[in-house]
Amino acid sequence: MIREMRKEDLGRIAELENELFQDDPWPADAFLYEMDDNPFAFLYVYEKDGRVIGYADLWITYEQAQLANIAVARESWGKGVGSELMDFCVNQAVKSGCENLTLEVRVSNERAKKLYEKYGFITAAIRKHYYENGEDAELMIKPLGGLEDDFDFSD
Ligand SMILES: CC(C)(COP(=O)(O)OP(=O)(O)OC[C@H]1O[C@@H](n2cnc3c(N)ncnc32)[C@H](O)[C@@H]1OP(=O)(O)O)[C@@H](O)C(=O)NCCC(=O)NCCS
Repeated sequence: MIREMRKEDLGRIAELENELFQDDPWPADAFLYEMDDNPFAFLYVYEKDGRVIGYADLWITYEQAQLANIAVARESWGKGVGSELMDFCVNQAVKSGCENLTLEVRVSNERAKKLYEKYGFITAAIRKHYYENGEDAELMIKPLGGLEDDFDFSD
């Protein structure tokens, strides 16, 4: 079940962040800020048998949507949870009338890139030395709705 993130989820979310993003985990406070002070942020969790096993942070700023964070507990990888969260976020962005959905991903994160490619994301740019350890980011974009035919990344 996917539902909105609540404050009581933050301990578990921070635990998952530490486990999954060892180089640059977001602390619980960062999620609290998103919840309380970022009017553009929409936070969701995937709950199974009363336990949070995945989450996503979607920013919707007028016609633009950005997936700021998506993660699934390691023991639940490969079972479709990430895809369900992605489906949900894409639907939210479409319902909000967004023209595209963007995200940044480490160039080395093959598993996440597989998920994004499955959803039609295209690499639009490389952001050099984007992460603290110097790794580059791929800026990926998925056109939504009416703009789909207008994008041409061939140049
Ligand atoms: C990326 C992540 C969210 C994917 O979640 P997930 O629940 O494993 O995703 P799914 O089970 O829905 O699989 C999605 C796609 O990933 C790919 N995938 C699944 N298992 C894989 C594996 N063992 N190796 C490589 N790719 C794999 C497949 O393309 C799969 O789609 P398909 O099964 O329909 O072919 C998860 O691995 C994760 O939390 N990683 C750590 C955090 C992270 O890197 N987040 C992204 C930051 S940009």
